[in-house]
Amino acid sequence: MSDLADLKERLERLKHEAIEQIYLADSLPSLEQLRIQYLGKKGALTEILKGVGQLPADERPVIGRSVNSLKHDLGEALREREAVLRAQLEEERIASERIDVTLPGRRHPRGAMHPIQKGIHEMTAIFQQLGFLVAEGPEVEDEFHNFDALNIPPEHPARAMHDTFFFADGHLLRTHTSPVQIRAMQAMVKRGEEPPLAVVAPGRVYRCDYDMTHSPMFHQVEVFQVGSKLSMAHLKGILKFFLSSYFGRELPIRLRPSYFPFTEPSAEVDIGCVFCEGKGCRVCKQTGWLEVLGSGMIHPNVLKAVGIDHSQYSGFAFGLGVERLVMLKHGIPDLRLFFENDVRFLRRMGA
Ligand code: DAH
Repeated sequence: MSDLADLKERLERLKHEAIEQIYLADSLPSLEQLRIQYLGKKGALTEILKGVGQLPADERPVIGRSVNSLKHDLGEALREREAVLRAQLEEERIASERIDVTLPGRRHPRGAMHPIQKGIHEMTAIFQQLGFLVAEGPEVEDEFHNFDALNIPPEHPARAMHDTFFFADGHLLRTHTSPVQIRAMQAMVKRGEEPPLAVVAPGRVYRCDYDMTHSPMFHQVEVFQVGSKLSMAHLKGILKFFLSSYFGRELPIRLRPSYFPFTEPSAEVDIGCVFCEGKGCRVCKQTGWLEVLGSGMIHPNVLKAVGIDHSQYSGFAFGLGVERLVMLKHGIPDLRLFFENDVRFLRRMGA
């Protein structure tokens, strides 16, 4: 067989082999591998071209044309195969990125206000609706505002009864919200204003006390009004309105004589038992009444301490424990539920 025939046959075999492999290539890298293998500088076609030099001059163009046409054909085949592979890749990408618009959205659990904060908001709103201003005072107090100005002198037994947390420098954690009375009245005097003044003051208070029904930190709402000719009738009217509004129904109330250093006269306030409607049950210890807060007419000494003329003005005040009122309203049996942050409780109480 002549060299020419031999070369032609090699070219023909190469063509079949290459085209078959190209159409079997299943990835772009393996396709590139084939391109190098056949058309590369050290590829099979180059190898064949080396043999062309040995041919007689008149046969060289024949092989040259065959080689060129094979180069062209293989190039075509590579491009076609590449297009197919790229299209497949694109399809796979689209399939993998497909968004299932029927999937449910991601849920964001809805937060809720803590029942104590909710109680404070509800209570405060009732007084705001009556025109009371909201005031707050510091939780770290001094003895003057927490005790002295409230007519609790140093040797007074009420001072010992308060289970006070003291700081080394003589400051203390306020044991009640009553010092906000002092601060609000002082601020009014300082502004050069006269009564009437009506304030609701919610906040945290602290007592060194911890058991089933006492937490060292708890919340109170303090309410007071100073003006001319205010009497216990006004106090009772506001109490009745407030308690009925908060519990959402008409509630009987009663005032029992009591004692607080900062009020005279003083009264403990009861509501008709919300569990037995006054018939007598375990919670009200068969009395039909539940004690809910302390109140009274602001003591003249308190008005004196802030520079308000007690011969011209009088006032009433009361202070209540938020935890206790929220527990009564919602039938919550244990104070500690408020502070343990068990989400099952908080969720059930959530708005
Ligand atoms: N400060 C009192 C306490 O924490 C509660 C109180 C009683 C507040 C009578 C008052 C009041 O304003 O008039 O025990």
